Amino acid sequence: MCGIFGIVVEKEQPLGQILTEAGLRLSYRGYDSVGCATLQENGVIDLRKDVGKVDEVAARLRFAEMAGLRGITQLRWATFGAPSQINAQPHLDSDGDLVGAHNGNVVNNVALRQQFITEGMMVRSTNDGESCVHAVERYVDQGYDMVDAIRRAYHDLEGDYAFVIGRVGENRLYAFKKGSGLVAGLSEEFTCVSSDLPSILPLTRRILRVQDGEIVILRAGQVELRRVEDGSLVEREIEQVTESMEAAEKGGYSHFMLKEIHEQPGVAGELIHLLEASSHIAPMIERIAKARHLYLVGCGTSYHACMLGAVYLARLAGRAAIPVLAPQFIPQYGPALGPEDVGIFVSQSGETKDVLNALAVAREREMGILGLVNVLGSTLMNVSEYYLPLACGYEISVPATKTFTNQAVAFLYLALRMGGHSTEPLARLPNLLEETLALVEPQAAALEPVMAGQDDLYCLGYGLTYPIALEGALKLKEVTYAHCEGMLSTEFKHGPLSAVYEGYPVIFVAGPEDVSLLVSGINETTCRGGQAIVIGEENEQLRVNAHDLILLPSAGPLLNPLLATLPLQLLSYRLSLARGYDPDFPRNLSKTLTVD
Ligand code: M6R
Repeated sequence: MCGIFGIVVEKEQPLGQILTEAGLRLSYRGYDSVGCATLQENGVIDLRKDVGKVDEVAARLRFAEMAGLRGITQLRWATFGAPSQINAQPHLDSDGDLVGAHNGNVVNNVALRQQFITEGMMVRSTNDGESCVHAVERYVDQGYDMVDAIRRAYHDLEGDYAFVIGRVGENRLYAFKKGSGLVAGLSEEFTCVSSDLPSILPLTRRILRVQDGEIVILRAGQVELRRVEDGSLVEREIEQVTESMEAAEKGGYSHFMLKEIHEQPGVAGELIHLLEASSHIAPMIERIAKARHLYLVGCGTSYHACMLGAVYLARLAGRAAIPVLAPQFIPQYGPALGPEDVGIFVSQSGETKDVLNALAVAREREMGILGLVNVLGSTLMNVSEYYLPLACGYEISVPATKTFTNQAVAFLYLALRMGGHSTEPLARLPNLLEETLALVEPQAAALEPVMAGQDDLYCLGYGLTYPIALEGALKLKEVTYAHCEGMLSTEFKHGPLSAVYEGYPVIFVAGPEDVSLLVSGINETTCRGGQAIVIGEENEQLRVNAHDLILLPSAGPLLNPLLATLPLQLLSYRLSLARGYDPDFPRNLSKTLTVD
């Protein structure tokens, strides 16, 4: 998705450190390449950029020594153009008077590049951020001032993006956006702009949220908003943010992933309290109950929560629900969708493009739109008739952990309430999660030497634990880069069993109701030499038949899937480290995928 940050100060000063620190805070958004540009008083633009993570590149290119009155940094997650020095951002215009960087996706980039080349501009890369710079250059060259040039460029740039740009010989930066988030920050001495709030909060708590169709003009100590439509001034109150930043820091843990795994008992407890007081539950249940068809839509981990949600809803409320991967929603169900249908759209970020695409069609068909979303103020939250916040705080680590737990909690809560059951059993969950973490941490550590060298794994579940097996497999492959396939345990004998050889590890997630069935699968594997690693509650059959039993506290069938998720998260974390990777920022990925 990429991240941008820009700052304007009163007097020329070293900006490299501030830009690097902002880059580090934004690095969850992209880490293929990083760049910094400072605009100096003497009209020089110091531009340094390269492939790699922000700390490596900052040290190699000595960002710390970069000074200026204005500065821009960008973290890239490659979409248009391979990760390379030339495609790294920021970019210059043809004669080096303008410098800018974007996040998001300019979808007409290929056509625009061709136009710029035909018009005689110097196009150096294939990256769409460069197209944003030339789009402004085109009108500056025709004699428009920066605001008017941007107003015109805005209409030429199609897609979802945020962009910041500066011009030599001025004391301002300009930024604008379509679809993506953009926040400006203010203090007496400087102003700044960023793709997200957490990268601004350590600098200032006075902020302005920029809307689509607005241009923010930053001078030291002063921010102005103008409408793209007619250039007129927008009046907006400055917000004072009181939220603590502690949540966005590692808090003593070596990685965000580990911290976020350990936050699960706490955030689950908070969500349960919040749901008890939520005025959205009753109208959501009414919408769900009256729906002709109910779709649960998400991607990746959020989709696995939808799968678990569908089991909870059927089982506890007698409500059939169709879990569907967001990009498959339109091709598979498009022709059948109508105003009598309801979709629960599930997304940590609320900005995943695949989800927003599905959402757009659902809105066109006048479907009921409900949301489960973690990031407040996100697109999903804004377009939902009713939504439930996941209340997890910032989830920085690319692998989703605590948000999965709370997505599952929200579905379980809805299903219990809809089925007229007491939500009392949920009150035990925070303690059970705490107990599980304590119990499984040493068990995951013991398995590390056995599993660290394994490049091929299966993770099997059944019924309520089937989504957990898929989620565990996703987590394992995401952070260990090993192949791990999640599957319904009963399907294993229909083909993949042939892959089993002496010592081949297969993970079984055994729900308390399905032990006998799972034991059949375990034996089909072990009698062919496979090693059965079983996650389940204390059970004599499991003990006798498994090679390794990762023991969970006894919680019953409904809460068991939530507990069974934890050893898979911890195992993934440990194996990632054992294999020499950074679990927080797995290669090739990004926390929020705002592209198709
Ligand atoms: O923000 P979202 O929940 O919409 O993100 C969906 C997926 O990209 C996300 O869950 C992804 O699969 C995780 N990185 C997996 O850990």
